[in-house]
Amino acid sequence: MTLLPLVTLLLAGSCLGAPPPAPSTGARTVDGITAIYNLGDSLSDTGNLARQGATGLLQHTTRLPYGVTVGRATGRCSDGYLMIDFLARDLGLPQLNPYLDKGADFTHGVNFAVAGATALSTAALAAKGITVPHTNSSLDVQLAWFKEYMSSVANSPREIREKLANSLVMVGEIGGNDYNYAFLQTRPNGRWIQHHQRDTHDRKHGKGRRTYTRNRADVLDMGAVRVVIPGNFPLGCVPSYLIAANVTDPSAYDGQGCLDALNLFARLHDAWLRRAVLELRRAYPGATVAYADYFAAYVELLGEARAAEHGFDRRVAMRACCGAAAGEAAGGAYGFDLRAMCGAPGTTACEDPSRYVSWDGVHLTQHAYGATAELLFHGGLVDPPPINFTRS
Ligand SMILES: *[C@@H]1O[C@H](CO)[C@@H](O)[C@H](O)[C@H]1NC(C)=O
Ligand SMILES: *[C@@H]1O[C@H](CO)[C@@H](O)[C@H](O)[C@H]1NC(C)=O
Ligand SMILES: *[C@@H]1O[C@H](CO)[C@@H](O)[C@H](O)[C@H]1NC(C)=O
Repeated sequence: MTLLPLVTLLLAGSCLGAPPPAPSTGARTVDGITAIYNLGDSLSDTGNLARQGATGLLQHTTRLPYGVTVGRATGRCSDGYLMIDFLARDLGLPQLNPYLDKGADFTHGVNFAVAGATALSTAALAAKGITVPHTNSSLDVQLAWFKEYMSSVANSPREIREKLANSLVMVGEIGGNDYNYAFLQTRPNGRWIQHHQRDTHDRKHGKGRRTYTRNRADVLDMGAVRVVIPGNFPLGCVPSYLIAANVTDPSAYDGQGCLDALNLFARLHDAWLRRAVLELRRAYPGATVAYADYFAAYVELLGEARAAEHGFDRRVAMRACCGAAAGEAAGGAYGFDLRAMCGAPGTTACEDPSRYVSWDGVHLTQHAYGATAELLFHGGLVDPPPINFTRS
């Protein structure tokens, strides 16, 4: 176990398709982008929750084996770097510092994302009977931070617009946790899925979507001209969801082993979000408002062609690398157990995270994040393309 970090580091140097992002000087710009502002949750948090204090199910994320591939825990919920790190690297920018790292350099952007954060506010979720653990820094709070930050570095709304004219703003992924908490707190799944499909349907026509759209419209009102709004991962392919759903009927699964009902649910969410994106495009014709298809990217990684191309082991496509994964039997077919999550005493990490898509049953491995970033930003899964990588 003590040799694992070293072994993984050596492996990282030799056989990963995408090497970890190298610190960049920001000297070279791509398509005129000089900064990234990011709002979101654990898929893109680079150290905010670690500074607030990670608790409960996220308590282990600030210690090894989280970060094992880069040799230290950074507060990122993975064995190494995240999509946002690969994106920054590809734009020739340094890694995004977390907003709560008060002494950090924010010249090339700020990361407001907090692991565990929700799209709806803690109060709005409480009204639905859902308790939010971990953090209260939901999307509206992060947005307030963003405004506060921009006002602190610019003297007028016009100056903020000028800064944002050369920036990329990522609003999400966020919203996955709203479902995670609802799911965990209202199992068994059948009831949950029905309840939330109804809820999603209601929101499509009501207040929920207006709140969602308004939060995202705020960044456009501030002057953002390139905004990326990501959807959710295919929940039915994610180990933690698969084990929690505990569906034994084989006909409930698709050819890849993903649970159809959960994927349908994720698609409903995404369809709803896409409609919000269309509304924003109509309201802000001068801006590029792009939808990032995380669902499609994740499904691609599980497919034969991409798995072979990137060196993923398809036999463990639905299995977490780290957690209750001591043996094939532990954690069932998915290597996941809520009572023995990655980093908890007695759990282990797999020898080679780069063979796995899922790091801890919830989050992806660095290798999968690198491949996902490539599919999204270079492979057409962000539409329309917010960045022209051939233009400097
Ligand atoms: C979130 O806010 C509630 C209500 O103000 C508070 O009781 C709770 O401790 C807060 N949680 C965290 C993690 O800060
Ligand atoms: C899964 O469901 C079966 C019955 O269908 C039950 O015996 C088992 O305890 C459940 N497992 C979990 C982890 O909930
Ligand atoms: C990207 O930029 C290059 C160089 O300016 C240009 O030739 C190309 O048409 C651009 N592509 C798109 C999709 O805008």
